[in-house]
Amino acid sequence: MKLARLAAALFALAFASVAQSAPIIIKLSHVVADKTPKGQAALKFKELAEKKLPGKVEVQVFPNSQLFGDGKEMEALALGDVQIIAPSLSKFDRYTKKLQLFDLPFLFNNIEAVDRFQQSKEGKSLLDSMTSKGIKGLAYWHNGMKQMSTDKDQLKRPEDVKGLKFRIQPSDVLEAQFRALGANPQKMAFAEVYQALQTGVVDGQENTWSNIYTQKFYEVQKTIAETNHGVIDYMVIANAKWWNGLPADVKAGLSKAMDEATAYGNKLADDINQRDKKLIAEAGKAKIQTLTKEDLAAWQKAMAPVWKKFEGDIGKDLIDAAQKSNT
Ligand code: LMR
Repeated sequence: MKLARLAAALFALAFASVAQSAPIIIKLSHVVADKTPKGQAALKFKELAEKKLPGKVEVQVFPNSQLFGDGKEMEALALGDVQIIAPSLSKFDRYTKKLQLFDLPFLFNNIEAVDRFQQSKEGKSLLDSMTSKGIKGLAYWHNGMKQMSTDKDQLKRPEDVKGLKFRIQPSDVLEAQFRALGANPQKMAFAEVYQALQTGVVDGQENTWSNIYTQKFYEVQKTIAETNHGVIDYMVIANAKWWNGLPADVKAGLSKAMDEATAYGNKLADDINQRDKKLIAEAGKAKIQTLTKEDLAAWQKAMAPVWKKFEGDIGKDLIDAAQKSNT
């Protein structure tokens, strides 16, 4: 009897140590290249999480839509097939109307203003805007301001995009933005954009310098206008049930790693975009069109009706808070 009890105790001990030595696997999936702001922040998170929680977690980063692309990653998160994703803020309108704020054209003057808003009380509260849908917001990661590009020689004023087909992210605000310009928007997954531009399925797109460079869009577009008319930023999210069920020490270590990776990536983001703008210019394939104040005012005026259309859903209070962050 004694022996049996001893054997059971030994077995329990052995099992506990095996259980302890098996790390929690955390899959982090995203759609862009490693050498982008998001790609760099994701790799930094892996490095820091594994350093802070040695043997307890293993973070597997899957870039370039390798594991899940747009459209599939939210479902995969809900099913537990991936633990962390970082979709652009333009990809949440099925989950909350509040985040449509970030797509309003010419809302933020620059990425510093975006950052100030995200760190404000209102900005932080949006991290919890999808908890009822089982989504836990962990952080905001920066990419940068958007530029517009087409396969035409002339891209200076809104009339230059009339009748053109544009690839957009799955966002009703962006759809309205291109309709206000008299263009034809098409929602499309990021992984399909290069081919759609190359084959002429669409004439143009809008994106950051780092995405235009790493996806080689500049090779299949003639003109990139420096419009800075909107922002592409991300919310890093986890399945709330999975997150809440993590052991306390793991959750604390991951939170710390996330905070530090966020600071690291967000500090790098603008430099990466400026570097990639330079590389695009040096490649000499697409012309970079700079715009005058008058040109920019014309784009702003043409896109202005979008604000009125979405103000009710987003809320005036949020729009006001975002505008305040410009000063
Ligand atoms: C896009 O779809 O154009 C971007 O959201 C991709 C990304 O994640 O930066």
